Amino acid sequence: MIIGVPKEIKNNENRVALTPAGAQELLKAGHTVYVQSTAGLGSGFEDAEYVSAGASILPTIEEVYDIAEMIMKVKEPIEAEYPLIKENQLVFTYFHFASYEPLTKAMVESKSVCLAYETVEKADRSLPLLVPMSEVAGRMAIQEGAKYLEKPLKGRGILLGGVPGVRPAKVLILGGGVVGTNAAKIAAGMGADVTIMDINLPRLRYLDDVMPANVNTFMSNEYNIRELIGTHDLIVGAVLIPGAKAPHLITKDMLKDMRPGTVLVDVAVDQGGCIETCKPTTHQDPTYVIDDVLHYCVANMPGAVPYTSTLALTNATLPYALQLANKGWQKACKENLELKLGLNIIKGEIVYQAVGEAFNLPYTSVDNFLN
Ligand SMILES: NC(=O)c1ccc[n+]([C@@H]2O[C@H](COP(=O)([O-])OP(=O)(O)OC[C@H]3O[C@@H](n4cnc5c(N)ncnc54)[C@H](O)[C@@H]3O)[C@@H](O)[C@H]2O)c1
Repeated sequence: MIIGVPKEIKNNENRVALTPAGAQELLKAGHTVYVQSTAGLGSGFEDAEYVSAGASILPTIEEVYDIAEMIMKVKEPIEAEYPLIKENQLVFTYFHFASYEPLTKAMVESKSVCLAYETVEKADRSLPLLVPMSEVAGRMAIQEGAKYLEKPLKGRGILLGGVPGVRPAKVLILGGGVVGTNAAKIAAGMGADVTIMDINLPRLRYLDDVMPANVNTFMSNEYNIRELIGTHDLIVGAVLIPGAKAPHLITKDMLKDMRPGTVLVDVAVDQGGCIETCKPTTHQDPTYVIDDVLHYCVANMPGAVPYTSTLALTNATLPYALQLANKGWQKACKENLELKLGLNIIKGEIVYQAVGEAFNLPYTSVDNFLN
């Protein structure tokens, strides 16, 4: 198969969908790989590294889209890319269709085959191509939170790990899933006094077993949250109710119960945030203060660490990309239910129910295309 890797053109996106190592694996399997010039630069990969791996470099995005049977991307196509996508072309990337109707309509019109990273799903309902970004964001939440606790950045002026004779900072993590667990690991490693709250008791039991001694678990409910917020320095929002807006576990009135300079990092901002006063921010202007409480609500946290994020993402996507390239999308999706669930739009028809329902558009069964 001919695989094309365009440079991401969405504002501030430095990740790339394929590393030189990934290109080599595809080439070893007998495929041809075209990478747009400088596509990997933002993640630290020079064109020459792709060439040594056996890939070919094309100077323009138009040439990449023109030649490729499968496009591998990171972000959803933006308007300038819509006309480049061809009939029958397989596009493997994050789409998040249900949040943007113009993209959905454009991809229906393109008659391409859209396989979305975010809906590839394992039998245990986990989302293997979202997990790596949650791992990055969870770890980063503590790195950023620790930084913003510094006084010149408007925080309380407390060092996360304390020093001998001085207590460490207290970190409260709302939600003990992938983001929360990764945040807890880093906070604990830095010596903080950490509490993870979740509503899932088996999950709390598991975390209690595997986490170090400076991590405690606590059942999540309003009463318990109100009890803790006044004594914690850094609070990380990491809840997720699949397919729904995040619940507001911290309401505006609770801010007055926090100490001035408390830092809130709401990682769940992409689902509306679990802190009522959360509104999306960017890496250019990541924070704002309400009632003396500092809010960090960057919606694409992994974008700040493209090197790590690219490697984490491609570690997860490459095995699927190889299946698609080796077998073609129809056979690969027939044989692997995880990939089949990633199919959102096929040749002008929506095949993912939630996407059709989001915009009241007709949808059909994916099986119509796999028999
Ligand atoms: N901002 C970013 O850059 C970024 C990056 C990656 C992920 N995210 C977001 O972070 C959020 C968390 O993702 P995840 O991968 O950890 O999800 P996850 O499903 O692994 O974990 C979510 C956890 O929240 C718990 N939960 C649900 N309701 C709760 C409540 N009322 N109180 C406490 N816990 C509750 C669940 O039991 C679960 O353990 C998602 O909204 C995700 O989209 C944001």
